Amino acid sequence: MSGGKLNAGRDAVRLGVLLSGRGSNFQAIAESIRAGQLKGVDIAVVISNVAEAGGLKVARELGLPHEVFVSKGRTRAAHDADVLVCLRAHRVDLVCLAGYMRLLSPEFVAAFPNRILNIHPALLPAFPGLDAQTQAFDYGVKVAGCTVHFVDEHLDHGTIVLQRAIPVLDSDDAHSLAERILVEEHIAYSEAIRRVASGEYEIQGRRFVKRTA
Ligand code: GRF
Repeated sequence: MSGGKLNAGRDAVRLGVLLSGRGSNFQAIAESIRAGQLKGVDIAVVISNVAEAGGLKVARELGLPHEVFVSKGRTRAAHDADVLVCLRAHRVDLVCLAGYMRLLSPEFVAAFPNRILNIHPALLPAFPGLDAQTQAFDYGVKVAGCTVHFVDEHLDHGTIVLQRAIPVLDSDDAHSLAERILVEEHIAYSEAIRRVASGEYEIQGRRFVKRTA
């Protein structure tokens, strides 16, 4: 990862949040910023590929810029090209996928190298893909959690920024487990953004570590 801060020469690291659904992770990030817990970070734009996404309502209520680019029926390349134009127009430094139910094209990933974060509701590399919490519960794991990672060209695969783990209780079902993982997600995403935006960390191989010099 080339060194330095993401917002070279500017006041704040500008986030572009991409979502498809209820947007609770986006809301948690927005609340962290409002509470002064994510200093030097702003949400520049919220983009959804689904017009009815609950996260868009949240963006509206918070008075944040938001855009819809409906992906249904379009090629990945054409849709992603529109999203990229929008991210650039809003001078986005760091893209945060927050329940964005769509794979990114290689062109998109290449446009923001190690500048795209995703949150996954399992301890990667275990249980990539859909319904990760149910996958973990059905497998019978005793520890579950979430992962914030950089996005590369493979699914749920890029360098891990942060993980938070919780025990799986005997009394859990897949639903209660997912709810408890979500609480951890809301903490993890803001902390991961803080670390990435700080410029104090670097990628060494597959490891995201604090700079020593
Ligand atoms: C979260 O569980 C996240 O880990 C996964 O999609 C879900 C999105 O939830 N990628 P929300 O829209 O942020 O509430």
